[in-house]
Amino acid sequence: MRRIHFFLTLLLLPLTALAAEVKSPNGNIVLTFHVNDGVPTYSMTYKGKDVIKPSRLGLELAKDKHASKGMSETDLMDHFSIKEETTTSFDETWQPVWGETKDIRNHYNEYAVTLEQRLDIHHYPKKAGTKGMWMETQTREMMIRFRVYDDGIGFRYEFPQQKDLNYFLIKEEHSEFAMAGDHMAWWLPGDYDTQEQITQQTRLSEIRGRMKSAVNWDNSSVAVFSPTGVQTSLQMKSDDGLYINIHEAACLDYATMHLELVDAETQALTTQLGGGSNAYTPNPKPSIYQLPKAFTFVSHLTPDATGLKGCMQTPCNTPWRTVMVSDDARDILSSNLILNLNEPCKIEDTSWIHPTKYCGVWWEMIVGKSSWHYTDDFPSIHLDQIDWQCVKPNGRHAANNEKVKRYIDFAAKNGLDQVLVEGWNVGWEDWANMWKRDVFDFVTPYPDFDIKMLNEYAHSKGVKILMHHETSSSTQNYERHIKEAYELMNKYGYDAVKTGYVGDIIPRGDHHYSQSMNNHYLYVIKEAAKHHVMVNSHEATRPTGLCRTYPNLVGGESARGTEYEAFGGNNPDHTCILPFTRLQGGPMDYTPGIFETKLDTWSNNTSWARITIAGSLALYLTMYSPLQMAADLPEHYEKYDDAFQFIRDVACDWDDSKYLEAEPGDYITVARKAKGTDNWFIGGKCDENGHQSVIRLDFLDKGKKYNCTIYADAKDAHYEKNPKAYVITKKVVKAGDSLKLTEAPGGGFAISLIAQ
Ligand code: NOJ
Ligand code: CA
Repeated sequence: MRRIHFFLTLLLLPLTALAAEVKSPNGNIVLTFHVNDGVPTYSMTYKGKDVIKPSRLGLELAKDKHASKGMSETDLMDHFSIKEETTTSFDETWQPVWGETKDIRNHYNEYAVTLEQRLDIHHYPKKAGTKGMWMETQTREMMIRFRVYDDGIGFRYEFPQQKDLNYFLIKEEHSEFAMAGDHMAWWLPGDYDTQEQITQQTRLSEIRGRMKSAVNWDNSSVAVFSPTGVQTSLQMKSDDGLYINIHEAACLDYATMHLELVDAETQALTTQLGGGSNAYTPNPKPSIYQLPKAFTFVSHLTPDATGLKGCMQTPCNTPWRTVMVSDDARDILSSNLILNLNEPCKIEDTSWIHPTKYCGVWWEMIVGKSSWHYTDDFPSIHLDQIDWQCVKPNGRHAANNEKVKRYIDFAAKNGLDQVLVEGWNVGWEDWANMWKRDVFDFVTPYPDFDIKMLNEYAHSKGVKILMHHETSSSTQNYERHIKEAYELMNKYGYDAVKTGYVGDIIPRGDHHYSQSMNNHYLYVIKEAAKHHVMVNSHEATRPTGLCRTYPNLVGGESARGTEYEAFGGNNPDHTCILPFTRLQGGPMDYTPGIFETKLDTWSNNTSWARITIAGSLALYLTMYSPLQMAADLPEHYEKYDDAFQFIRDVACDWDDSKYLEAEPGDYITVARKAKGTDNWFIGGKCDENGHQSVIRLDFLDKGKKYNCTIYADAKDAHYEKNPKAYVITKKVVKAGDSLKLTEAPGGGFAISLIAQ
């Protein structure tokens, strides 16, 4: 039953008021807003401690050749006064289509301030002597809306439709986040095109010194913009024990936000990072506006191909800028702030959206044992000039009828819902980094992939094939073919697609996280929804909670995934950081489950996965997603079938979730109750140092008994030296019992608790 409590208090403060204070429902967070000499300024405390010191808000607009035709170009930075203020409260409980909990409470106090900017515009005669100078007074309004929750705040700018502000171009948004100290931070280099770098852990003052070595220029698309630029979601910890997280929510028709740290050296910046063929965009000229104090982050939006950061038409608004805070790291993981700041579900009938466990013809290509492409015979491919039936196969093409059937059989036998098949469609011979526009048509299978037969075979066994659309970032090409491509999916009974955006964006010059590209990803999600297709987007923009509004967005990559275990490896602490950062905006298709971690034991790849088998099982709990892959090869799972039992059993949709232990970069332990059942699953994952856990089972139903199966690291397990050493123990437990567990370096544990 949907429970909605909504109450509204309207408080009109005196129009002359210069400062407002709004508290979170439990009073722990206090937000202060005032207009300081015409400049909107806010600050924030948690239990009396500074989280955000006074920080200015505003937007710098671009000059435009169409200015005389009604385009506004006077900055929205200063000369403001308060016109109107309203304070309201909201308390609602809503039910996500899928999620970590059955119910989500959206409880906040809101402060919305309408600011007025009065400007005297001087018009000068174009030709001397034609007409005298004249002056006009323009009045423009901008609202800033703050929502203050118990676990953080969100604020955004809103621009009502008005006479003197209709169209404007954003040169830069200048939302500041002044930190109260030199916090520890878990950060990725700020980049317009990739989030697949290794997370760095340093103090804020050390970001500049670390930046150069933090960038791997070998990624297929890199555009780092500043020696102190970092991405959101940014996790920090202060010396006085506050966990602070900055991100954004509901990024719609707007560029993705990064953060640029002002540090001691900022003013003197001319440094260039060299390397690779990728362009490094030097630090933009310091703004005409006064630089803030050291340890202040300033928003930095992703530009489009013209260098501009936003084309706006009123009425419109920016995404929410979010600051989460708590003195308990578990609260950051269980926070629903980002989802709550997104609009409710816009898809009326959601019955076709479902949690999905899948395997795939994938890992063996990533590892290099087989190929996506079908032939080695052509120096380049023109899609319309090849008769594929006459082409000589290379003998390594993985997406062939026989192999796909083998995966379908494996999925059917083990209760997996779908089989991803990559490399099924023509075009893979020259698919990446060629600036090739017409790279795929998304409808023509290679001759050894019988699309009709394979889908019928899968359906006869209760399994579906998961579609793959690699776009190679040729976005216009994808948009041109999308309707036909989704009609093909409907025809053969696909209901999910994995999309991909490898390489620099075509048309050239644009970036993965610009306003135009964010609009492209949304277009794909909406188009997919029309065809009842779920979307899992790789290399797309990082999520900002849009899955609440469009729950067919069931997953995404937008971070360094398991594929990097085949490209040099992920650090053992990587998965103890991602839930604090990347996962804040929505679930990740991390593709866990690698059992044969030493790849050279079965391929020519010398890389290896830095994780134990028990640790891999834990990821199905700690890396929340309604879409979960069992990424390793069927034959590898068959060798460790007793451990694979956990992947067969584990749910991927939940009525309840309880974070039991957490520390960024060290360990995460979570217990989840499977949707519509009395069964619980617990996962614990740790970094390279190992971890001891004592789990009190006080969340189980009193009076019930549970068959408990524990998949733990063996005593001598180690992510490098002994990754496959696990022990499975079975016992009967009840509420109030405790479990003691030892996680090996780079390891973890997984537990299933099945109600008797
Ligand atoms: C990168 C994706 O992350 C990976 O999963 C996929 O296999 C390749 N692109 C090819 O599309
Ligand atoms: Ca990727």
